[in-house]
Amino acid sequence: MSRETDGIIDEVSPHTVKKFELVEGYVRDWKEIMLNNSSCGELIFIDCMSNSGEYKHRETGETVYGTPVRINRLLREAASRYPRKNVSVIFNDKSAWKIAHLKALIPEGSGNYHVSFLNEDCNVLLRRLSHEVCGVRGKHSTILTRQLLTGML
Ligand SMILES: C[S@@+](CC[C@H](N)C(=O)[O-])C[C@H]1O[C@@H](n2cnc3c(N)ncnc32)[C@H](O)[C@@H]1O
Repeated sequence: MSRETDGIIDEVSPHTVKKFELVEGYVRDWKEIMLNNSSCGELIFIDCMSNSGEYKHRETGETVYGTPVRINRLLREAASRYPRKNVSVIFNDKSAWKIAHLKALIPEGSGNYHVSFLNEDCNVLLRRLSHEVCGVRGKHSTILTRQLLTGML
């Protein structure tokens, strides 16, 4: 998808920028549908391979923000409009440097908006989350994983 420049800020192709926009557009609509549903008390967005949140456009050299930064903006704003619903975002990457960079771009959660940064192999993380989140919270949670999104797109 992109070629590493300094190990933290990757170069990004126009194709990948379009993918960021598609995911952002999907979540923009999805969150409203879910939060308006009375059976949905909690929304969780997980990006298992979140990268650093920031890229350099391969052709223009401009800064481009990735999925975590875009989704954080959307869901943080939505959480403020639905104070009775919990909204959580979980960002994970196997690179500790990239997660540290992302953490500096995204403010802490507050109130009903929860932000977590993890630094694990996504295969291990997904296995753990499938037990912790699905097992404990069951049907009350809506989980949108990177895998699901990729499949839809
Ligand atoms: C797939 S892209 C991330 C794109 C990002 N989700 C976005 O939309 O902005 C590449 C990232 O996956 C991470 N990665 C690759 N294999 C991984 C693994 N097994 N576990 C966690 N992260 C991984 C890399 O460190 C890199 O930062």
